[in-house]
Amino acid sequence: MKNKTRSRKIALEVKNLHKRFGRLEVLKGVSLTAHEGDVISIIGASGSGKSTLLRCINFLEVPDTGEVIVSGEPVATRRRRDGSRVPTDRRQVDRIRSRLSMVFQGFNLFSHMTVLENVIEGPVHVQKRPRAEVLAEATVLLKKVGIAEKCDHYPSHLSGGQQQRAAIARALASNPGVMLFDEPTSALDPELVGEVLRVIRDLAREGRTMLIVTHEIAFAREVSSRVIFIDEGKILEDGPPEKVLVDPQSDRCRKFLAREFS
Ligand SMILES: Nc1ncnc2c1ncn2[C@@H]1O[C@H](COP(=O)(O)OP(=O)(O)O)[C@@H](O)[C@H]1O
Ligand SMILES: [Mg+2]
Repeated sequence: MKNKTRSRKIALEVKNLHKRFGRLEVLKGVSLTAHEGDVISIIGASGSGKSTLLRCINFLEVPDTGEVIVSGEPVATRRRRDGSRVPTDRRQVDRIRSRLSMVFQGFNLFSHMTVLENVIEGPVHVQKRPRAEVLAEATVLLKKVGIAEKCDHYPSHLSGGQQQRAAIARALASNPGVMLFDEPTSALDPELVGEVLRVIRDLAREGRTMLIVTHEIAFAREVSSRVIFIDEGKILEDGPPEKVLVDPQSDRCRKFLAREFS
């Protein structure tokens, strides 16, 4: 097993990430490595910095210090006169983002576009790929997430579960190396959670590399190769699910899990 891990390529590396908003230090030195095929669930209390971590990984926020390395390529940043950091090269950020597709809690589909238009938008307009080829792939992706018959509908005519599955198809369309999920089922009615988890489970089985922020502990235990527990901007646990979710090292994680299951 160890040899297997060693021979797989590193898809994403985060080194000693720090991020503050004004006086609030949200990330206090976060490091993690995702190898190809890893499914890493990130758990932790609300406000612990989980979303900020994902947003720093795809540069929706720029970390204050530390490094993000995507398939071997470090993302370059520079310090401005006012002390804040910005990416050195916007094109590099665009390139990195197409390798890291994010699925948000609130679906974030374009409301004025049909489901199909949402799925093909990135590949056609950002990646400049041939429309016919992208359309053919999009049809396959919509079948895969089980909403092929909704392709010509607008998002507002879909249930939350269908919208989130459309958002996953859209995220897959750019053929990302790593998928980032930020509480993908938290905005859904309970009866719709299962259909979205099913799609994510299928992606895990296919060997997709994924970082999943989730409160679905049973799901995390089932699909993850690793679970990370983040508390007040620091990683307190990083290990296999049967360790972190059953026999964690830290009191903080034990208490968090007790609350989640109460
Ligand atoms: N853009 C921002 N400006 C100021 N504070 C922020 C911003 N984004 C997040 N925060 C604060 O950072 C902390 C961590 O937020 P977040 O990463 O969203 O936590 P989580 O996703 O774990 O609930 C919270 O206190 C939140 O209010
Ligand atoms: Mg969050």
